[in-house]
Amino acid sequence: MKTSQKVSEEDSRALGKKRRSLRGKSLLVFVLLLSAILGFALLLAYTIRTCGLEPCNAEECLVLLAKLLAARNASTDPCEDFFSYSCRKWEANHTLGMSMQSVTVFDELLEENQLILKRLLEQQFGGRGSAKEKAIRFYHSCMDTRQIEAQGGQPLKALIKLVGGWSITGHWKPTDFNQTLQTLMGKYNTFPFFKAYVGPSASDPSINIIQIDHPQFEMPPESNYKEISSYSKVVRMYLLYLMELGSLLGGHQNVTMTDISLTLSFISYLQKEVTPLQERQKRRMLFHYTTIRELQEQAPAIDWLSSLQAAFHPVQLNASQPIAVHDMDYLKGMSRLIGEWQNRRQVSQIYMILCLVGNLSPALDSQFQDARQKLMDQLHGKSELGTAMAERWRKCLSETSIFFEPVLGEMIVQEIFPQKAKELAKKIFYEVREALYSQLDQVEWMDKQTRQEARDKVNSLQLEIGYPENILQTAKVDHEYQDLEIHANAFFHNVVACLKFLRKNFSLKLLYPQPHHNQWEVVPWSVHSYYSMRRHAVVFPAGMFRIPFFHTKFPSAVNFGAMGVFMAHELLHTFYEYVLPENCPGCNSEMLLQGIDCLVRQYESYSLQGLHINGTFTLLENAADTGGLAIAYKVSTIQIYLLFMSVEC
Ligand SMILES: *[C@@H]1O[C@H](CO)[C@@H](O)[C@H](O)[C@H]1NC(C)=O
Ligand SMILES: *[C@@H]1O[C@H](CO)[C@@H](O)[C@H](O)[C@H]1NC(C)=O
Ligand SMILES: *[C@@H]1O[C@H](CO)[C@@H](O)[C@H](O)[C@H]1NC(C)=O
Ligand SMILES: *[C@@H]1O[C@H](CO)[C@@H](O)[C@H](O)[C@H]1NC(C)=O
Ligand SMILES: *[C@@H]1O[C@H](CO)[C@@H](O)[C@H](O)[C@H]1NC(C)=O
Ligand SMILES: *[C@@H]1O[C@H](CO)[C@@H](O)[C@H](O)[C@H]1NC(C)=O
Ligand SMILES: *[C@@H]1O[C@H](CO)[C@@H](O)[C@H](O)[C@H]1NC(C)=O
Repeated sequence: MKTSQKVSEEDSRALGKKRRSLRGKSLLVFVLLLSAILGFALLLAYTIRTCGLEPCNAEECLVLLAKLLAARNASTDPCEDFFSYSCRKWEANHTLGMSMQSVTVFDELLEENQLILKRLLEQQFGGRGSAKEKAIRFYHSCMDTRQIEAQGGQPLKALIKLVGGWSITGHWKPTDFNQTLQTLMGKYNTFPFFKAYVGPSASDPSINIIQIDHPQFEMPPESNYKEISSYSKVVRMYLLYLMELGSLLGGHQNVTMTDISLTLSFISYLQKEVTPLQERQKRRMLFHYTTIRELQEQAPAIDWLSSLQAAFHPVQLNASQPIAVHDMDYLKGMSRLIGEWQNRRQVSQIYMILCLVGNLSPALDSQFQDARQKLMDQLHGKSELGTAMAERWRKCLSETSIFFEPVLGEMIVQEIFPQKAKELAKKIFYEVREALYSQLDQVEWMDKQTRQEARDKVNSLQLEIGYPENILQTAKVDHEYQDLEIHANAFFHNVVACLKFLRKNFSLKLLYPQPHHNQWEVVPWSVHSYYSMRRHAVVFPAGMFRIPFFHTKFPSAVNFGAMGVFMAHELLHTFYEYVLPENCPGCNSEMLLQGIDCLVRQYESYSLQGLHINGTFTLLENAADTGGLAIAYKVSTIQIYLLFMSVEC
């Protein structure tokens, strides 16, 4: 459950630290709780069956039963070791080879969802000109590896020539720095020297503003390494990779060596100008409000107005345009470096082209992919997960979802999440919420007024189930994609066209801010729910409402035992601030601290293969898990009770 539930990261910087370290440690608790849930569901199903109620003979129930039985180790005594009894076989069958990386129920469900999308994308689709047809054609062009291999690096070479060429292959003419930069940003969504995007303003999240930050460098920065020797090793690997790119694109060894080495030192100088996030937070320089005119004075090497006009076309910008800068020190340093390196063998041109190549690399043939994979393996170590990811359809699905997320969302929702399921999901949510209210009435450490506040807080929570509403408006989505042309057998050109499309679409955000409820942080086929603090909303994507968590044909105890628990868990995240006694003047802090201490100790007493967790660190998640289970249990026992009453068990 830990892996599934998250508080939206962007919303909760305060929780950020906790979340990041949670991933590694969450496995233990996850497995324990999973056992509790599955065991619980099993128990309920068993109770219903043995009490003479109608057993659920629907196919979906039988599938669930088979899953539960397959996870169970019947030779273990449940009273001795309930976890082994209910989950041990699952574990034995879901470990990734030697790395002992466990696959969770969530991983398995996500895999199933992706396979459904794969099947949907493989179908032939006739509706000419629709966004769906374009998505399907895009996917097919990606799967057409024969065509991609036959073309090799040719389309990329032609493109490089178009933006002025580079000394690596000999064919180059002196180019205008500002012009190339504008072309890369406007046409190819490539931002070599800085990142420019539209996002909510910190002072008023309902307003979108242009934001400028340092770019995401591919090479890890020196500060990531404790020892200089390991950093030099990384630089060497990266140098070899860039040289290989150069030679794949037709460069001569001797030229490549000099030029690429110089470019690499330029990159590492740029990287050194980046102010670490912590320092930026400390110095409160994360949202520096300024205008394009002022930025031009601070960082003169870039023609800011023209390049931002190119990046945000068709939005009209002038020099008084307000912008937010996240790392002014970097921008100043970057500008200085561009000036200093201006006359050194076109280094800035080579750097820009390398960024373009990096951005387009998913569209290139296997030689490029292999070179990249080799670099990744060297940097991060070979992983079996990486090997599994190498399957072509996964790459193509991932590429397609980058450009066609709303379309794929609509496709999967039509397939797996009928209106009936949505209605039932809502009903479960409201019942869980009712149970939470009555639980709240019994909380002894809150005074009456605080309880009422907590209740109001839950009551005002926005519920979003399944998908952002706008993805089902197919006519609107078709209209959005109307200018995008996708051709069969031209994957490279399709990616280029999509990059341009995406860039334009992002710009339009400035002109037409989207209603908040359409801005999801997960895709509809995701299996992760979350609470967004910024929007005060809980989000449950359609991908979760599937076996083994949910089905309209399941006995309701089973739905409450899984989805109900997830819902209660997210609901409880709205209370996170009460966990700190200083935030709750109406709370009896002694009782509260006692309760917290109890929970911390309970979780620290668990161990799996000698691993313990830090109960303080994971407190918020644990509180939501435990409370969620208790609340969902409360509803389902009421349900079973009512069932018994009506059937005279
Ligand atoms: C099932 O439990 C028995 C008895 O505890 C144990 O010997 C066996 O190894 C377990 N099987 C698995 C797959 O864990
Ligand atoms: C794991 O389960 C699958 C079916 O779900 C089965 O075919 C396979 O043999 C099992 N593997 C192991 C190691 O038990
Ligand atoms: C590369 O070096 C070789 C000699 O090692 C030379 O003949 C050749 O002209 C050089 N190529 C370029 C493009 O300078
Ligand atoms: C880019 O344009 C700006 C503004 O016109 C100019 O000051 C700067 O020198 C140009 N940069 C380069 C590297 O030519
Ligand atoms: C600049 O743009 C803003 C809107 O973004 C507009 O209000 C202002 O009048 C423009 N100024 C000039 C000189 O065009
Ligand atoms: C394009 O932008 C609109 C809103 O500005 C958004 O609803 C839509 O999902 C975006 N499309 C893509 C493909 O990102
Ligand atoms: C547990 O986490 C808390 C909160 O982050 C931290 O202050 C504490 O030092 C950690 N304890 C141990 C033993 O690591």
